[in-house]
Amino acid sequence: MKATIVAGLVVAGLVLAGPASANADLAKSSGCLKCHDVDKKKMGPGFKDVAAAHKGKADEAALAAKIMGGKDHPPVKASEADVKTLVKWVLAM
Ligand code: HEC
Repeated sequence: MKATIVAGLVVAGLVLAGPASANADLAKSSGCLKCHDVDKKKMGPGFKDVAAAHKGKADEAALAAKIMGGKDHPPVKASEADVKTLVKWVLAM
């Protein structure tokens, strides 16, 4: 009974927190946040600055390819699907 209530609260919490925080968790678990922050520069540019820089001319596929390529961007361990999700999330900031 208690476990059901707790599980219900967790689900409600996830729904309320929405996709933005799920993506933030994905960015964290993918290691992106070691070099990036959302709104300030670390080793890499802040994600909001990235979104601003690409505004109106964003090419999601090219950005994802650049990040996966390990040539013009430090190598990442995230899957291609995760990188695509993260690029969408970043560009929407
Ligand atoms: C080892 C450090 C490091 C990690 C880890 C890292 N980045 Fe970066 N990232 C950088 C640096 C440095 C730049 C700026 C140079 C460049 O554009 O490649 C950058 C640039 C970017 C850009 C902008 C590229 C452009 O052309 O404007 C995006 C988007 C990005 N990173 C996304 C990610 C995502 C998503 C992850 C996680 C899967 C990630 N990064 C992990 C260091 C890192």
